[in-house]
Amino acid sequence: MLMRLDKYLCSCGTGTRTEVKKIIKSKRVKVNNKIIDTSDFKVDETMTVTLDNKVVEYNKYTYIMLNKPAGYLSATRDNNKDTVIDLLEEKYRNMGLFPAGRLDRDTVGLVILTNDGDFAHNTLSPKKHVSKTYIAHIEGTLPPDACEIFNKGVILKDFTCESADLIIEETHNDYTVVRVTIHEGKYHQIKRMFLSLGCKVIYLKRISFGPIELDNKLKEGEYRLLDPKEMEFVKAVR
Ligand code: URA
Repeated sequence: MLMRLDKYLCSCGTGTRTEVKKIIKSKRVKVNNKIIDTSDFKVDETMTVTLDNKVVEYNKYTYIMLNKPAGYLSATRDNNKDTVIDLLEEKYRNMGLFPAGRLDRDTVGLVILTNDGDFAHNTLSPKKHVSKTYIAHIEGTLPPDACEIFNKGVILKDFTCESADLIIEETHNDYTVVRVTIHEGKYHQIKRMFLSLGCKVIYLKRISFGPIELDNKLKEGEYRLLDPKEMEFVKAVR
Protein backbone atom coordinates (compact mmCIF):
# COMPACT_ATOMS: atom_id res chain seq x y z
CA MET A 1 0.00 0.00 0.00
CA LEU A 2 1.50 3.30 -1.07
CA MET A 3 1.51 6.14 1.44
CA ARG A 4 3.15 9.51 1.91
CA LEU A 5 6.61 9.44 3.44
CA ASP A 6 5.55 11.77 6.30
CA LYS A 7 2.59 9.51 7.13
CA TYR A 8 4.85 6.44 7.10
CA LEU A 9 7.27 8.06 9.55
CA CYS A 10 4.44 9.30 11.80
CA SER A 11 2.88 5.84 11.99
CA CYS A 12 6.28 4.48 13.10
CA GLY A 13 6.29 6.96 16.00
CA THR A 14 9.10 9.12 14.59
CA GLY A 15 7.35 12.34 15.56
CA THR A 16 4.34 14.54 14.92
CA ARG A 17 3.41 15.37 11.32
CA THR A 18 5.07 18.82 11.67
CA GLU A 19 8.25 17.39 13.22
CA VAL A 20 8.47 14.68 10.57
CA LYS A 21 8.04 17.17 7.73
CA LYS A 22 10.96 19.20 9.13
CA ILE A 23 13.10 16.06 9.46
CA ILE A 24 12.39 15.13 5.83
CA LYS A 25 13.21 18.65 4.62
CA SER A 26 16.53 18.55 6.44
CA LYS A 27 17.58 15.59 4.21
CA ARG A 28 17.98 13.09 7.05
CA VAL A 29 15.67 10.54 5.45
CA LYS A 30 16.57 8.06 2.72
CA VAL A 31 14.32 5.70 0.81
CA ASN A 32 16.13 2.75 -0.75
CA ASN A 33 19.40 4.57 -0.06
CA LYS A 34 18.44 7.80 -1.83
CA ILE A 35 17.86 11.04 0.09
CA ILE A 36 14.21 12.11 -0.19
CA ASP A 37 13.33 15.61 0.99
CA THR A 38 9.67 15.81 -0.04
CA SER A 39 6.98 14.76 2.42
CA ASP A 40 4.53 13.63 -0.25
CA PHE A 41 6.97 11.11 -1.75
CA LYS A 42 5.12 7.76 -1.90
CA VAL A 43 6.53 4.71 -0.12
CA ASP A 44 5.30 1.21 0.71
CA GLU A 45 6.24 -1.52 3.21
CA THR A 46 8.72 -3.15 0.80
CA MET A 47 10.98 -0.07 0.66
CA THR A 48 13.80 0.57 3.10
CA VAL A 49 13.32 3.87 4.88
CA THR A 50 16.15 5.19 7.04
CA LEU A 51 16.46 8.17 9.36
CA ASP A 52 20.05 9.24 10.06
CA ASN A 53 21.04 5.97 8.37
CA LYS A 54 19.03 3.85 10.84
CA VAL A 55 16.25 1.69 9.42
CA VAL A 56 12.74 2.80 10.42
CA GLU A 57 10.66 -0.40 10.57
CA TYR A 58 7.11 -0.03 9.35
CA ASN A 59 4.51 -0.96 11.94
CA LYS A 60 1.02 -1.15 10.60
CA TYR A 61 -0.37 -0.89 14.13
CA THR A 62 0.81 0.44 17.47
CA TYR A 63 0.28 -1.23 20.87
CA ILE A 64 0.91 0.69 24.09
CA MET A 65 0.75 -0.41 27.72
CA LEU A 66 -0.55 2.41 29.92
CA ASN A 67 -0.75 2.53 33.70
CA LYS A 68 -3.99 4.49 33.88
CA PRO A 69 -4.42 6.91 36.77
CA ALA A 70 -7.82 7.63 38.32
CA GLY A 71 -9.73 10.53 36.81
CA TYR A 72 -9.23 9.62 33.13
CA LEU A 73 -11.94 8.29 30.84
CA SER A 74 -11.25 5.19 28.74
CA ALA A 75 -12.28 7.03 25.61
CA THR A 76 -10.56 8.87 22.79
CA ARG A 77 -12.19 12.25 23.19
CA ASP A 78 -14.46 14.07 25.62
CA ASN A 79 -15.56 17.67 25.76
CA ASN A 80 -15.19 18.06 29.51
CA LYS A 81 -13.15 15.24 30.97
CA ASP A 82 -9.57 14.06 30.41
CA THR A 83 -9.19 10.83 28.45
CA VAL A 84 -6.42 8.24 28.37
CA ILE A 85 -5.31 9.68 25.01
CA ASP A 86 -4.59 13.02 26.74
CA LEU A 87 -1.85 11.21 28.70
CA LEU A 88 0.15 10.47 25.54
CA GLU A 89 2.85 12.65 24.02
CA GLU A 90 1.75 14.40 20.85
CA LYS A 91 3.31 12.01 18.36
CA TYR A 92 0.96 9.26 19.57
CA ARG A 93 -2.16 11.40 19.65
CA ASN A 94 -2.94 11.38 15.94
CA MET A 95 -2.47 7.70 15.30
CA GLY A 96 -6.07 6.69 15.91
CA LEU A 97 -5.24 4.90 19.18
CA PHE A 98 -8.07 3.81 21.47
CA PRO A 99 -8.31 1.62 24.57
CA ALA A 100 -8.82 -2.11 23.97
CA GLY A 101 -11.38 -2.63 26.72
CA ARG A 102 -12.50 0.06 29.10
CA LEU A 103 -11.73 0.80 32.71
CA ASP A 104 -14.03 3.02 34.76
CA ARG A 105 -12.88 6.58 35.33
CA ASP A 106 -11.90 5.79 38.93
CA THR A 107 -10.21 2.46 38.09
CA VAL A 108 -6.42 2.46 37.72
CA GLY A 109 -3.92 0.14 36.08
CA LEU A 110 -3.33 -1.70 32.86
CA VAL A 111 -4.89 -0.42 29.65
CA ILE A 112 -3.72 -1.44 26.18
CA LEU A 113 -4.00 1.36 23.66
CA THR A 114 -3.97 0.39 20.01
CA ASN A 115 -5.21 1.33 16.56
CA ASP A 116 -5.70 -2.34 15.66
CA GLY A 117 -9.46 -2.81 15.57
CA ASP A 118 -9.31 -6.59 15.01
CA PHE A 119 -7.10 -7.12 18.04
CA ALA A 120 -9.29 -4.92 20.25
CA HIS A 121 -12.44 -6.63 19.05
CA ASN A 122 -11.04 -10.12 19.61
CA THR A 123 -9.90 -9.38 23.16
CA LEU A 124 -13.54 -8.71 24.00
CA SER A 125 -14.83 -11.88 22.36
CA PRO A 126 -15.84 -14.53 24.93
CA LYS A 127 -14.45 -17.16 22.51
CA LYS A 128 -10.91 -15.85 23.02
CA HIS A 129 -11.12 -16.15 26.83
CA VAL A 130 -8.84 -13.22 27.57
CA SER A 131 -8.73 -13.15 31.35
CA LYS A 132 -8.29 -9.94 33.30
CA THR A 133 -6.97 -9.78 36.85
CA TYR A 134 -7.73 -6.98 39.28
CA ILE A 135 -6.72 -6.01 42.77
CA ALA A 136 -9.72 -4.63 44.62
CA HIS A 137 -10.17 -3.06 48.02
CA ILE A 138 -13.56 -3.89 49.47
CA GLU A 139 -15.15 -1.86 52.24
CA GLY A 140 -15.44 -3.93 55.41
CA THR A 141 -15.38 -7.71 55.15
CA LEU A 142 -16.68 -10.25 52.65
CA PRO A 143 -19.25 -12.95 53.35
CA PRO A 144 -17.51 -16.24 54.18
CA ASP A 145 -18.81 -17.96 51.02
CA ALA A 146 -17.70 -15.14 48.64
CA CYS A 147 -14.99 -17.23 46.91
CA GLU A 148 -17.44 -20.08 46.33
CA ILE A 149 -20.09 -17.74 44.91
CA PHE A 150 -17.54 -16.17 42.53
CA ASN A 151 -16.38 -19.62 41.51
CA LYS A 152 -19.90 -20.80 40.69
CA GLY A 153 -20.68 -17.64 38.70
CA VAL A 154 -22.24 -14.55 40.24
CA ILE A 155 -25.85 -13.99 39.16
CA LEU A 156 -26.54 -10.36 38.27
CA LYS A 157 -29.89 -8.83 37.29
CA ASP A 158 -29.25 -9.04 33.55
CA PHE A 159 -26.73 -11.87 33.20
CA THR A 160 -24.89 -14.66 34.97
CA CYS A 161 -21.13 -14.18 35.15
CA GLU A 162 -18.74 -16.92 34.16
CA SER A 163 -16.80 -18.55 36.95
CA ALA A 164 -14.32 -16.08 38.47
CA ASP A 165 -11.36 -16.61 40.80
CA LEU A 166 -11.45 -14.68 44.03
CA ILE A 167 -8.49 -14.73 46.41
CA ILE A 168 -8.49 -12.86 49.72
CA GLU A 169 -5.06 -11.27 49.99
CA GLU A 170 -5.25 -9.13 53.16
CA THR A 171 -7.82 -8.26 55.76
CA HIS A 172 -7.63 -4.90 57.50
CA ASN A 173 -9.85 -3.35 60.18
CA ASP A 174 -12.08 -1.54 57.73
CA TYR A 175 -11.31 -3.04 54.30
CA THR A 176 -10.29 -6.28 52.57
CA VAL A 177 -7.79 -6.63 49.73
CA VAL A 178 -8.70 -9.22 47.10
CA ARG A 179 -7.43 -10.47 43.75
CA VAL A 180 -10.11 -11.26 41.19
CA THR A 181 -9.76 -12.84 37.77
CA ILE A 182 -12.63 -12.67 35.29
CA HIS A 183 -12.84 -14.00 31.75
CA GLU A 184 -15.28 -11.50 30.31
CA GLY A 185 -15.68 -7.75 30.63
CA LYS A 186 -19.19 -6.48 31.13
CA TYR A 187 -19.86 -2.88 32.16
CA HIS A 188 -18.84 -2.29 35.83
CA GLN A 189 -18.54 -6.04 36.15
CA ILE A 190 -16.26 -6.28 39.19
CA LYS A 191 -18.13 -3.59 41.11
CA ARG A 192 -21.45 -5.22 40.31
CA MET A 193 -20.23 -8.69 41.30
CA PHE A 194 -19.25 -7.40 44.74
CA LEU A 195 -22.39 -5.33 45.03
CA SER A 196 -24.42 -8.52 44.53
CA LEU A 197 -22.79 -9.72 47.77
CA GLY A 198 -23.63 -6.41 49.45
CA CYS A 199 -20.01 -5.20 49.25
CA LYS A 200 -18.60 -1.95 47.96
CA VAL A 201 -15.40 -1.68 45.88
CA ILE A 202 -13.43 1.34 47.10
CA TYR A 203 -10.31 0.85 44.93
CA LEU A 204 -9.83 -1.10 41.72
CA LYS A 205 -6.66 -1.74 39.76
CA ARG A 206 -6.22 -3.96 36.70
CA ILE A 207 -2.93 -5.80 36.88
CA SER A 208 -3.14 -8.15 33.92
CA PHE A 209 -4.79 -8.55 30.56
CA GLY A 210 -4.40 -12.08 29.19
CA PRO A 211 -0.73 -12.97 29.73
CA ILE A 212 0.31 -9.30 29.72
CA GLU A 213 1.12 -8.02 33.19
CA LEU A 214 1.26 -4.38 34.19
CA ASP A 215 4.92 -3.35 34.17
CA ASN A 216 5.65 -2.30 37.74
CA LYS A 217 8.26 0.16 36.47
CA LEU A 218 5.44 2.27 35.00
CA LYS A 219 4.15 4.87 37.43
CA GLU A 220 0.52 5.93 37.10
CA GLY A 221 0.19 8.00 33.92
CA GLU A 222 3.27 6.41 32.31
CA TYR A 223 3.26 4.12 29.29
CA ARG A 224 5.49 2.19 26.92
CA LEU A 225 5.22 0.16 23.72
CA LEU A 226 4.52 -3.55 24.17
CA ASP A 227 7.73 -5.58 24.09
CA PRO A 228 8.34 -8.50 21.68
CA LYS A 229 7.20 -11.10 24.25
CA GLU A 230 3.94 -9.23 24.85
CA MET A 231 3.48 -8.89 21.08
CA GLU A 232 3.27 -12.69 20.85
CA PHE A 233 -0.07 -12.46 22.66
CA VAL A 234 -1.25 -9.77 20.23
CA LYS A 235 -0.37 -12.03 17.29
CA ALA A 236 -2.10 -15.01 18.89
CA VAL A 237 -5.33 -13.07 19.50
CA ARG A 238 -5.54 -11.37 16.08
N1 URA B 1 -14.99 -3.83 36.52
C1 URA B 1 -15.44 -2.66 37.01
O1 URA B 1 -16.40 -2.63 37.77
N2 URA B 1 -14.79 -1.54 36.67
C2 URA B 1 -13.72 -1.51 35.85
O2 URA B 1 -13.16 -0.45 35.59
C3 URA B 1 -13.25 -2.73 35.35
C4 URA B 1 -13.91 -3.88 35.70
